[in-house]
Amino acid sequence: MSLWQKHAIFEKNSIILVIGILVVIAIGGLVEIVPLFYLKNTIEKVEGVRPYTPLELAGRNIYVREGCYLCHSQMIRPLRDEVERYGHYSLAAESMYDKPFQWGSKRTGPDLARVGGKYSDDWHRDHLRNPRSVVPGSVMPEYSWLAQNELDTKNIAQDLKVLALEGVPYTPDMIANAAADVATQATADSPEAVDLAKRYPKAQARDFDGNPARVTEADALIAYLQMLGTQVDFKLYDDKANIR
Ligand code: HEC
Repeated sequence: MSLWQKHAIFEKNSIILVIGILVVIAIGGLVEIVPLFYLKNTIEKVEGVRPYTPLELAGRNIYVREGCYLCHSQMIRPLRDEVERYGHYSLAAESMYDKPFQWGSKRTGPDLARVGGKYSDDWHRDHLRNPRSVVPGSVMPEYSWLAQNELDTKNIAQDLKVLALEGVPYTPDMIANAAADVATQATADSPEAVDLAKRYPKAQARDFDGNPARVTEADALIAYLQMLGTQVDFKLYDDKANIR
């Protein structure tokens, strides 16, 4: 009986086939899952990663609402072409407080994991209003209503509370000040910016949408985009990890 004929045992007897399938899946499961039990933490510790400010979080909610993830990923793979185009590959810790994470897999547009600081606020404002005004051949849709819509902060403290339940280290102080922190961060030269920076180190506070009279959805989304990928100081990180 050749090897191929022995295979007929599995094909003719469903119970034996099911047992065979279970054995094969169990081997795959052991190889993939068991090593995780021996790791204290699958996320390496990295300095600088903090929870989103309430304004950035509101911007992230708009990013999800508008489906930006359908065309943009937020994960730079450790491959040479990606690192040369987008910057340092993404670390697990950088999306530690991203619930649900926005890694994505579709790149109709470029990866946005490190878009923070790449363009000016004005560029983002024009680009969101009409992408063709700054990138002539762009196929990105326009989001002109974002600069007109007042940002709704009714639920922002609740958002922080829910994330705190999920393990994001939002303190009662951060939750109590959530709505006020939104206004502070979207205003240029606010005296409260000092307290904001104490709660959220390196938070950038200014009038992101160029309209000082109102806090709009564009303020929130641009604050979020300008922060993406800027939390970790990679000079420090790579020295410590002895990379390069
Ligand atoms: C239909 C696909 C699509 C959707 C949806 C989309 N984009 Fe884009 N995006 C693109 C394309 C294509 C580009 C490249 C051309 C350009 O810069 O406009 C781009 C470029 C960008 C850039 C510049 C990136 C860089 O490094 O140059 C940013 C920032 C951006 N998009 C943000 C957003 C945001 C925020 C949303 C949601 C409000 C969004 N996009 C939704 C397709 C999309």
